[in-house]
Amino acid sequence: MALIAPSILNSDFLRLGEQIAMLNSSEADLLHLDIMDGNFVPNLTFGFPIIKQIKSVSELPLDTHLMIRDPDKYLEDFREAGADNLTVHYEVCDHLHRTVQRIKDLGMTASVSLNPATPVHVLEDILSELHMVLIMTVNPGFGGQKFIAQRLEKIKKLRHMIDIRNLQTLIQIDGGVDITNITELSRNGVDVFVAGSAIFKDDDPSGMIKKLKDNS
Ligand code: DX5
Ligand code: ZN
Repeated sequence: MALIAPSILNSDFLRLGEQIAMLNSSEADLLHLDIMDGNFVPNLTFGFPIIKQIKSVSELPLDTHLMIRDPDKYLEDFREAGADNLTVHYEVCDHLHRTVQRIKDLGMTASVSLNPATPVHVLEDILSELHMVLIMTVNPGFGGQKFIAQRLEKIKKLRHMIDIRNLQTLIQIDGGVDITNITELSRNGVDVFVAGSAIFKDDDPSGMIKKLKDNS
């Protein structure tokens, strides 16, 4: 069974407290937060005050996906706000190794995300130092987009890279995950699934989390 990381991006922000209480009592494993800067991606979301409030009520670890340029500027602030895992995008880090080390020195786990067009081999020399590799299966910026099916080959390649090195690094995917594709993805070696609209657009979000988990 894989881990499920609900993304609250498409949840009802007027009822955020209730939704987090629902996640606390669901089978979710992580709470996925999408941080967007209106520069790296064409959308803006939320920042530190909201993350802090979420942290004060969440019983799940905060899995924080930074879709922002220059993440180094804010690593400490994310730690203070309560992030447990920080995922930075490969495409914005000039000195990825330094960024990963700083995240770990601050006491968080460090993960790296790849856009759909970025090949997995770019992470070969840093793979052993990562908690997760997040493969984007949509172009980042919005929830509710269609899964890009060709990414399956990429997942298989990454699975192979991890297994031949006998590493513990987890494969996470994000974008367009739902009940129709989770089983095949899980069979191909995905460890952690982010799901936003599949969960929050369902009449029974907690039931959908359980279904996704059972089918993974
Ligand atoms: C997209 C975000 C995702 C998004 C997923 O840029 O990184 O986490 O919320 O939403 P769905 O599951 O609706 O594709
Ligand atoms: Zn995300």
